[in-house]
Amino acid sequence: MSSETGQSTSRKIANVMQETRVFPPSQEFTTQAVIASESQYQHLYKSAKSDRDGFWSDLAKSELHWFKPFESVFNREGHVVSWFGGGQTNLAYNCLDRHIENGLGERTAIIWEGEPGEQRRLTYAELHREVCKFANGLKSLGVRTGDVVSIYMPMTPELAIAMLACVRIGAIHSVIFAGFSAEAIADRNNDARAKIQLTSDGLWRRGKNLPLKATVDEALKKSPTVEHCVVLRRVGNEVPMQAGRDVWWHDLVEQASADCPATPLDSEATSFILYTSGSTGKPKGIRHTTAGYNLWVKQTFAWVFDYKPDDLFWCTADCGWITGHSYIVYGPLSNAATVLMYEGAPNFPAEDRFWDIIERHRVTILYTAPTAIRAFIKWGDHHVEKHDLSSLRLLGTVGEGINPEAWMWYHRKIGGERCPIVDTWWQTETGGIMMSPLPGITPTKPGSCTRPLPGIVPLIVDEELHAVDVDQGGMLCIAEPWPGMLRGIWGDDERFVEQYWTKVPGNYLTGDNARQDADGYYWIMGRIDDVINVSGHRLSTIEIESALVSHPSVAEAAAVGRPDDLKGQAISVFVTVKSADPPTELKDELKAHVRKEIGALAVPDDIRFTNALPKTRSGKIMRRLLRDIAAGKEEIAQDTSTLEDYSILAKLRGDEE
Ligand code: WTA
Repeated sequence: MSSETGQSTSRKIANVMQETRVFPPSQEFTTQAVIASESQYQHLYKSAKSDRDGFWSDLAKSELHWFKPFESVFNREGHVVSWFGGGQTNLAYNCLDRHIENGLGERTAIIWEGEPGEQRRLTYAELHREVCKFANGLKSLGVRTGDVVSIYMPMTPELAIAMLACVRIGAIHSVIFAGFSAEAIADRNNDARAKIQLTSDGLWRRGKNLPLKATVDEALKKSPTVEHCVVLRRVGNEVPMQAGRDVWWHDLVEQASADCPATPLDSEATSFILYTSGSTGKPKGIRHTTAGYNLWVKQTFAWVFDYKPDDLFWCTADCGWITGHSYIVYGPLSNAATVLMYEGAPNFPAEDRFWDIIERHRVTILYTAPTAIRAFIKWGDHHVEKHDLSSLRLLGTVGEGINPEAWMWYHRKIGGERCPIVDTWWQTETGGIMMSPLPGITPTKPGSCTRPLPGIVPLIVDEELHAVDVDQGGMLCIAEPWPGMLRGIWGDDERFVEQYWTKVPGNYLTGDNARQDADGYYWIMGRIDDVINVSGHRLSTIEIESALVSHPSVAEAAAVGRPDDLKGQAISVFVTVKSADPPTELKDELKAHVRKEIGALAVPDDIRFTNALPKTRSGKIMRRLLRDIAAGKEEIAQDTSTLEDYSILAKLRGDEE
């Protein structure tokens, strides 16, 4: 806990948000839904809870292909868990071969659009062929089961092909978002002991051609374990190729055979590691497995996105994040879905690119992040109104809490008031979605991720580890294991146990705070470390921020605590406004607005206007950096390697009230 005040009278977090709007799905949506009745959900939820092993055993048998059947369903020894022990399966087989065997080889798997506008379509049969060829290419470079392949590539079909090729032969991929620095790549390569690096000559971003290979060359100077680098030609840049080390993707696959049987892999074989930044310290390589992860992403995709064969699903995340792993590649493809994959920026060539893509391709399900939604709001409704979005039938969000007013905009402007919104709460560590509305049955409330999926048993406790009452905030834990849970931090068992399993013994500690309302709905209240303690009242950042965002002039807001002699902590807020030059009176107006929306307790002590907020590369507001700025610290002592734009910090420091 970050609160240093010692004044706390209650260790619970106050709930000050008053959100009473409820949006039930339309009859039309419900009638056709995968989960179409409350009793169906209740039945699934109760079966998973009362007979966990039976429930998952049945699904694992029906949903996955097994080279060798599993002998046990769940085992735990200390902190080592295993699902489907004794069994052998393969993620790529479940994503490709299985569908081809079922006669779906001609179905489109990926529709890809590059930023400059080119398009490609790959059927399941074509994707299978490309994956097999590249897998053989990797083998020819000496890649064996258990080797780590580091992937630093643009959002092209080859990125998905590379991931699938790795898991096909039991190589472990570590995808690094193609915006990270050479230093960040080298750190991750060394931690993972990566053997092969995959990259491209460059990538397109907002019309510019970024030199990925040059960054990789820098990184490889400090990555002694990497033996070869495979380079995809994407933009046509001249790049130096180091003899003996570097090889072109096209040369590698040209000779390769398209026959590459999937390797039967133990259920618990590591499928991939994915680095995620802790709030402090070096990034953690979150380790996921083969069978449990596959089942979890397959099943959650089917439940939450209500997928039907004529849908076109578009997840706007990058494959460098868990959302891309689970809901561009493994979840949709194991369901034989058709996904849209887009390479570039949402504002190139103009701020309507997303709506243009949806209109042209007739996207039916859109899954994006609150940070993007807030940017769209700021860019203006006219970009949306130019386009026909009537193909959409379902919307989703992930990555941060969504402020209720941003939710309302998404509902009205993008969903035409007809599309259910699934606000999905989950983490890199959880592998797939944990809490979310089921679009056919769950009445939604703006800002709530509603209820747990079958198999998920949330628990909210206070600092003394007592379960909290209705509408009281506390630490969100997960009390029962689920198949998609992380199995470790790569090379650091101690940190794994310390971080997730120690504070609330016997439960998985998520690191988020949450409350459950009287209807049983969950509301995520932000990271545990972000709580603001004002005169002993513990306030969650999202509630103050949502009050600010509900003011018509405000586009984005971040609230943090700073030390205050009197109150323990004072509330500092950083606000991005929609107009270029906010009048000074706006500060008083915003204070009055928060007083009206929440109450005197939550009125910000200082307000700073800013053009942009510091964010991670996946779009999360970095409140811990803002805390240092609010406290007037000259130097930021924290890890800033995941910060998207360094110049923002300097600007913020100069913009004192
Ligand atoms: C936050 C992304 C509120 C949360 C899949 C979590 C959310 C962290 C939501 C994980 C949501 C994600 N509502 N908060 N719907 N979704 N978060 O590892 O703090 O990038 O712990 O995984 O994002 O982020 P990660």
